[in-house]
Amino acid sequence: MARDNVIVGLDLGTSKVIVTVAEVDEYGQINLVGMGETASTGLRKGIIVDIDRTVRDIRAAVEKAERMSGVGISGVCVGIGGQHIQSLHSRGVVAVANAQKEISVEDVQRVLQASKVITLPSDRRIIHCLPRQYIVDGNDGIVDPVGMSGERLEVETGIVTGLATSIQNTLKSVELAGLEVVQLVLNPLASAYAVLQPAEKELGCVVIDIGGGTTEIAIFDAGSLWWASILPVGGHHITSDLAVGLRAPIEIAERIKIEHGCVLPDLLPDNEYVSVSGVGSQEEQQVSKKFIGSIIEPRVQEILALVRERIKSSGYQGMLPGGVIITGGVAGLSGLKQLASQELDLPVRIGQPQGVGGLSDMTKDTSYATAVGLIIYGAQQLSHQEAAASREPLLGGIWLKISDWFKEIFGF
Ligand SMILES: Nc1ncnc2c1ncn2[C@@H]1O[C@H](COP(=O)(O)OP(=O)(O)OP(=O)(O)O)[C@@H](O)[C@H]1O
Ligand SMILES: [Mg+2]
Repeated sequence: MARDNVIVGLDLGTSKVIVTVAEVDEYGQINLVGMGETASTGLRKGIIVDIDRTVRDIRAAVEKAERMSGVGISGVCVGIGGQHIQSLHSRGVVAVANAQKEISVEDVQRVLQASKVITLPSDRRIIHCLPRQYIVDGNDGIVDPVGMSGERLEVETGIVTGLATSIQNTLKSVELAGLEVVQLVLNPLASAYAVLQPAEKELGCVVIDIGGGTTEIAIFDAGSLWWASILPVGGHHITSDLAVGLRAPIEIAERIKIEHGCVLPDLLPDNEYVSVSGVGSQEEQQVSKKFIGSIIEPRVQEILALVRERIKSSGYQGMLPGGVIITGGVAGLSGLKQLASQELDLPVRIGQPQGVGGLSDMTKDTSYATAVGLIIYGAQQLSHQEAAASREPLLGGIWLKISDWFKEIFGF
């Protein structure tokens, strides 16, 4: 059954493929009505490396989500990540078109389009063009200029780009799974929609989503995305370090990490042990939790040092008073908040997904941040389109045909 105002998120992660289904009610409340997830087998470090497997995983997750929600899924908001992602700042300027000098939705479209006219390498495509502020006749700080009077409309935007081939592989996998891409959303931008408080976004903060194969970083400032970058390291590296250190199979190392992992081994008592079965099911060995922590800690320190370097390289000059918000599966590691706060020299909190009702108890874990954020992002886009369409009914078609907009941006 297809329903109105249904938003579907698709998080193509290195560890899990997750589909979230939500309904938006008449008050704008987003209610999770179903979810499906499956282990991800077609991605490495956030990039699709096997289309057939990815398609199979998407279908499996969609089927589960359809069964739970009773909704027939056709269009999805898809997250995208991988170390090919880059971000930059741009500006656009236009003269206000109509004789009354009242700024219309079309003027805003034109000025955003103007800010997208930048020199990009031929193998890159724009994923997002996010307005940071509008400037009307020199007056800055304007969030929504539609309806204002003015002659000259300017915009400052944050542009996110990705490799055309990686974007195409994502689109292709979704389409081969029988679905339509409604929106392509940068993963950490989606996560931010699920974990950030408006004040943090306004003051300046960093979201760090540490998943299985990637660590995604996004700086927010003055309410919008300022910069983003993705590192090809994550929880899988911690698991393989443990597997080597304990001489145990990957599956056992993964379980030990999740159940007993801690990044502050110095705080652990000497006399707490766990049983670990070795490679080739040799007899069980007793391993101290302190020893497990001493294997995990340097890898997490290394990831945090890379994050610190990346943030430094972003050129961001602010103080980030909103602090660091860590999410993604690895945020579940005991002691991470304290270690990150030491390594990054900023206040840190762990960000659990919020902002949706319904079956949201199913998505409380930090590893659902992107999947929950995708439906919040999708719902917000829907409400912007409805608002624009009601303000300028003749232009409604322009806003509502997302697929046309999509073709225009990507050229395919
Ligand atoms: N409680 C926990 N403690 C430590 N690590 C955990 C815990 N729970 C999950 N993880 C780790 O988190 C990782 C998965 O996180 P997540 O589900 O966010 O990844 P993903 O989105 O599929 O991957 P990516 O975003 O990198 O493509 C795995 O490495 C897993 O071992
Ligand atoms: Mg992820």
